[in-house]
Amino acid sequence: MQRIERISDLREAVKILREGGKQVGLVPTMGALHEGHLSLVNTAKSNCDIVLVSTFVNPTQFNDPHDYETYPRTPKEDAELLRSAGVDILFAPSEEEVYPEPDTRQFDLGNVGAVMEGPRRPGHFNGVCQIVSKLFDFVEPDLAFFGEKDFQQIAVIRRMLEITGQNVKIFPCPIVREADGLAKSSRNLLLKPEWRAIAPTIHKVMIESLTWKGILSPQATRNKVIEMLNATEYLRVEYYDIVDGRTLKSISTWAESKEPVGCITVYCGDIRLIDNIHY
Ligand code: PAJ
Repeated sequence: MQRIERISDLREAVKILREGGKQVGLVPTMGALHEGHLSLVNTAKSNCDIVLVSTFVNPTQFNDPHDYETYPRTPKEDAELLRSAGVDILFAPSEEEVYPEPDTRQFDLGNVGAVMEGPRRPGHFNGVCQIVSKLFDFVEPDLAFFGEKDFQQIAVIRRMLEITGQNVKIFPCPIVREADGLAKSSRNLLLKPEWRAIAPTIHKVMIESLTWKGILSPQATRNKVIEMLNATEYLRVEYYDIVDGRTLKSISTWAESKEPVGCITVYCGDIRLIDNIHY
């Protein structure tokens, strides 16, 4: 595995590796890797000849500077994990390398940027588009792998591609969960034991709600999920919305969408957790 910090070195290394028309796959991450990230890497390995992983904690997507400063950074462990996973290139640039000058681009994301996480994390998705479009430009991957854990992020990246015209195929990967159903996340480590014990209820209730589909409308399903979770000690739902998986518009009938997805943000104690489920 090559560990590369400079964009010029990255371009050169990719050029050599892709010779002969090899398929190049990119897995963008912010490091602090866990099994969720590794599942993306393994999917990339099975679908591409060459696999690149970036581990860059992107400052422009944090709306809270404290969150950026305290974001977990485990570069040694990340490199070791990626090496054993058989990754070809680890791209770990500095902030100056990626942003030699401020990126002032504003992406007009329309509805997919205006709902759910959008208004609650102002500037977040714009920052995601800034970094991901730069990474796509540096690497020019054939495929890029994203986790459905961040379901809205995938819709946002698809919209970004319409804007930039970059030719990258987006490969969504299923959520990796703990044995008890809690979606894997580095934030889970911040849960106090009593909160951690309750956290799997989020997925449990969402799974149960799949069986209501024939009986309840999307709106009634949504209300019942919120009610049940809010009745649980330590849980407070910020939003639960059932949307079309492509447009992220709320649906009022099940027939309206080929891909209805329930997207949730819940405070568990004082930790903000996100999850989603396909109906
Ligand atoms: P990060 O939070 O490091 O996540 C990197 C990728 O791993 C994302 O596509 C995310 O959805 C996926 N992922 C995280 N936990 C997962 C889980 N439990 N199951 C499946 N996939 C999971 O998302 C970002 O970084 C950044 O916004 C980034 C796209 C890298 C831009 O900076």
